[in-house]
Amino acid sequence: MTFARIIGTGSYMPERILTNADLEQMVDTTDQWILDRTGIRERRIIAEDQKVSDLAEIAAKRALEASGTKAVDIDLVIVASATSELIFPSLACLIQQRLGIGDCPAFDINAACTGFIYQLDVANQFIKNGSAKNVLLVAAEGLSKVVDWDDRATCVLFSDGAGAVVLTADSKPGIRSTHIHADGTYSELLYAPSGRYGDDPPHIRMKGNDVFKVAVTKLGAVVTEALQANNLVVDDIDWLVPHQANLRIIKATAKRIHLPMERVILTIEKQGNTSAASVPLALDTGVREGKIKAGDTVLMEAFGAGFTWGSALVDF
Ligand code: UT7
Repeated sequence: MTFARIIGTGSYMPERILTNADLEQMVDTTDQWILDRTGIRERRIIAEDQKVSDLAEIAAKRALEASGTKAVDIDLVIVASATSELIFPSLACLIQQRLGIGDCPAFDINAACTGFIYQLDVANQFIKNGSAKNVLLVAAEGLSKVVDWDDRATCVLFSDGAGAVVLTADSKPGIRSTHIHADGTYSELLYAPSGRYGDDPPHIRMKGNDVFKVAVTKLGAVVTEALQANNLVVDDIDWLVPHQANLRIIKATAKRIHLPMERVILTIEKQGNTSAASVPLALDTGVREGKIKAGDTVLMEAFGAGFTWGSALVDF
C-alpha cells in the first residue's frame, strides 16, 4: 500500500511587524480587546517590494531543503492562496519556474483558510493512485492587501506569510485520512470581492460573531470525524495543529476532544491569521521548535470562507 508522507516543512513571514499598540493608533481598538477576543499580539505585513510569490518561494525552498528533495524530483506542485498578485498564471506555475522544477502538473486551489487541508487531500489522492511521487505544497497569503484598514472588526485579525511541505510516496503512513467539507450557503458571512465588478472594493467583509459560532460547531465535528474514522482516542494524538484564527475557537476545538492545550501548536499570538498559510506555518513552527517529531501523530484542522472546513490526520 502507498501512503503520502510529509518529509519536509518550511515557512516564511515578512519582516514588518504590526503590533496591537500600532493598531490602537489606526482604529478605535485596544490591545486588551484584541488579546482577550482573539489571542493576537502582533501580525506580519508584506513589504512594498514583496509579492505573495516571493513569500511562497522562500517557504518552498525551505521545505525542499528540509526534505532533502531536489527541485527536479518534484512531479506535482499545488499552491493554495486567495491573494496572488496575478490572476494568471497560477502561483504554482511561478513557483515551478523559479525553483527549476521541470515539466509536471502545477495548479492553484482556493479554499480560503482551509486551503492547506484541501491541498493535503488532493496530494494524497495523486500519490495513492500513483500519479505523483514527490509533491510540493505551498500556501501563501498577502492578506494585508485586501484588509480594510478602517474596519476594526477585521483589520486586527489578518497577517501575511507562507508555509510549505514536501510529500513523498512511501510504504508507511503518512496521511491516514483527510476530511474536507464546504457549504456555500454561508458565503455571505465572510467574503472579499475582486474589486472588478460594481462598486465593492476588494476588502475582506466578515460577520465575525456568526462566523465564530459556525466555526466552533464545524471544527468540533470535523476533529471528532477524524478520530472516529481512524478508530483513535485523544491519547493517540500527539499534537493538534489548528487554523490560527482565534484562540477561543482553538480552545473550544481542543476541549471538544478533551485534548490538553499543552498538546496544541499555537502561533496565533505572533503570527495572526494568515488564512491558507496558517496551518503549514504552525506545522513548520512546531517541527522547527522540536515539538513535532518523527513518529508523532498530528491532527490538523481549518475553517474558512465558503464556508469550507476540514481535517487531516497524519503520522510523522
Ligand atoms: O479565518 C477564517 C475564519 N474566521 C474566523 O474564524 C473568525 C471568527 N470570528 C472571530 O474570531 C470573532 O468573532 C472576532 C474576533 C472577529 C470578534 O469577536 P466577538 O467576540 O465575536 O465580537 P463581536 O463581533 O460580537 O463584537 C463585540 C463588540 C462589538 O461592540 P458592541 O456592538 O458590543 O458595542 C464590536 O463593535 O466588540 C466591538 N469590536 C471591537 N472593539 C474593539 C469589534 N472589533 C473590535 C475591535 N476593538 N477591534
